[in-house]
Amino acid sequence: MPARAPGRTAVRDRLRRLTAGAAVSLMVACTLNGTAPAAASADVPPAPAYEDPALPVDDRVEDLLSRMSLDDKIGQMTQVDRGALENRSDLAAYRIGSVLSGGGSAPTPNTPQAWAEMYDSFQRTALSTPLGIPVIYGVDAVHGHNNVRGATIFPHNIGLGATRDPGLVERIGRATAEEVSGTGIDWTFAPCLCVARDDRWGRTYESFGETPEIPSAMTTLIDGLQGASLDAPGSILATAKHYIGDGGTTGGDDQGDTRLSEAELREVHLPPFREAVERGVGSVMVSYSSWNGVKMHGHRYLITDVLKGELGFTGFVVSDWAGVDQLDGRQGFTAAEVRDAVNAGIDMVMVPHDYRRFIELLRGEVRAGRVPMERIDDANRRILAKKFELGLFENPYTDRSYTAGIGSAEHRELAREAVRKSQTLLKNDGGVLPLDTSAKVFVAGKNADDIGNQSGGWTITWQGGSGDVTPGTTVLEGMRAAASDPSRVVYDRYGNGIDGSYDVAVAVVGETPYAEMEGDRPGSMGLDQEDLATLSRLRAAGVPVVVVLVSGRPLDIAGQLGGWDALLAAWLPGTEGAGVADVLYGDHAPTGKLPMTWMRSAGQQPINDGDGKEALFPLGHGLTYDGTGPDEPGDPGDPGDPGQERCTAHYRIVSQWSGGFQAEVTVRNDTSAPLDGWQVRWTPSGALTIGSAWNAVLTRAGDTVVATGSGWNARLAPGGSTAFGFTATGSPAVPAVSCSGG
Ligand code: GLC
Repeated sequence: MPARAPGRTAVRDRLRRLTAGAAVSLMVACTLNGTAPAAASADVPPAPAYEDPALPVDDRVEDLLSRMSLDDKIGQMTQVDRGALENRSDLAAYRIGSVLSGGGSAPTPNTPQAWAEMYDSFQRTALSTPLGIPVIYGVDAVHGHNNVRGATIFPHNIGLGATRDPGLVERIGRATAEEVSGTGIDWTFAPCLCVARDDRWGRTYESFGETPEIPSAMTTLIDGLQGASLDAPGSILATAKHYIGDGGTTGGDDQGDTRLSEAELREVHLPPFREAVERGVGSVMVSYSSWNGVKMHGHRYLITDVLKGELGFTGFVVSDWAGVDQLDGRQGFTAAEVRDAVNAGIDMVMVPHDYRRFIELLRGEVRAGRVPMERIDDANRRILAKKFELGLFENPYTDRSYTAGIGSAEHRELAREAVRKSQTLLKNDGGVLPLDTSAKVFVAGKNADDIGNQSGGWTITWQGGSGDVTPGTTVLEGMRAAASDPSRVVYDRYGNGIDGSYDVAVAVVGETPYAEMEGDRPGSMGLDQEDLATLSRLRAAGVPVVVVLVSGRPLDIAGQLGGWDALLAAWLPGTEGAGVADVLYGDHAPTGKLPMTWMRSAGQQPINDGDGKEALFPLGHGLTYDGTGPDEPGDPGDPGDPGQERCTAHYRIVSQWSGGFQAEVTVRNDTSAPLDGWQVRWTPSGALTIGSAWNAVLTRAGDTVVATGSGWNARLAPGGSTAFGFTATGSPAVPAVSCSGG
């Protein structure tokens, strides 16, 4: 099944094949861009090389580039929001190469069919240009195809980080790619590989975790999105974002300043991008933030020298939304800002509105010699290569075979599985959970019966919103479906009506939707007054209280925790709230592990694993129902027999090449107490020369290699884990490894 419906090039090729050598004119029914059927004759000119899919991509790129004017090339570097086009024909007139839907920028009606029609219409316009270069269309499908009503909305990244399941995340990538493909769209601005170091940051929920290992592990999303090859059916282009250090700003200030040494920046924020590049991510989006006071959108060293040079990134770099405008700190963009951003290594600029002015300014900078033509050509090579690899020239239109699968039962079941696996049980006194299906349950809280609240930001609109925003199952609906008698599950948002006749009260509370800077919480990080009042009512009834926290981050709840019998972090589950009920009623035991250290108070922020601060719950904390897992916080736990292995090491080959390989070793603390000073040892099967190593110090003791933690990860929280890696020459045979600690 072709990835998309045949387009102009395929039709023209058929035309040539039909008429090749023929002495007669043939009336071939074909529509090029919707025009009337065109007469053909044997004198059809030979197809230009770039239209020949049998040629290597590089050859096609060079041929096409040789035919392009400066305006053609600048157009390819221009990305506009769908709503910014004053008229559709500007797409062709200005040779614009990319369109995006910013958060919530949707057609009316907001249906999959309308999206597909819109996409195909843009494509027809783009293909009407002399060179017929298709557009590439990008959206923020960051937890499913979340702009589209009816699409499956998966848990946000913080919940997926709690699963510690890269295979699940890859499957989510695939399902998301299929739903995006069903609307024609070619490209998602995901995954966010941010390492959130300060939970006050409004984008904490877009992070898989506070250490580089968790986002690095979850780069499997890229494999799911991009598939076995970009032109395979259902594959779309992925984006590693936001390069670099977006999650490390001082105070968690969105778009703020990340003040770190280069060594710290490389140790904490670079590994996920290295992993993404190794997985072949097609694009990288630059961060709004700064590094030590220098805006990333103008950072030539980090974009060109490190990302493209050192890491060998061969895809294209896209700016963030009007990110170029921020370089001089003033409203709007100038020729100098355009020049500096493009010369720093940005290949495509998400303008996204005043495209005429952008094109005019960049043209002026090139003609003045302030932006070298080599830079323009390099940007075009990178962009065009991805368009060829995506198969857009051969099959530019929507593959409608995926449209019906948007919001499918299969995808919703996958999302429900992800919700279950993300549930993180932090407290469970007296085994109040799981609930008995026959129990008389009082449910309260603003997040119990609200699809919008449980989905969070980037859902249908940019900021998201409360209410019935898209089809799905709320937590309450899931609970009633799980109960043997739904009428015994009573709901009142505010807790009015609760009394001692109930077996248990369940309060589903937390945050309401937000995105980006709107979610920054530089002050209080506690529950709002409504939730606190609701909880008071429930507690006054004298029944056990289970709290389900629907939030995009850890919250400051230590002061209330003593009055709760159980606490389940549900994160932002998305449309399949029944996955929360699956855990509450014990159909599935909770397996989630904290992807972020949980503060004792907001005053501790930033608080991260290994920083010496006393957390309420450590990174990696998570209980289950069989009584295993770490004990209550503060409990020293069983130090374990010093003689027994208190940690487990898992060694895997990440990649190998002639004569060399890269390995990754995951180290897990198997005790319920912090583990200091772990060591991993192995004896290679043959000669081994270590090249580079990260996140551990590797030494030799005779034939044995000894790896120890590199400072920030030398201490593992109870149940916590870390990973280190290295490159080496020698045999990639997997050795037996042993782990010891403390
Ligand atoms: C936003 C975000 C970025 C998103 C882009 C396009 O401002 O920073 O994550 O991909 O704009 O919507």
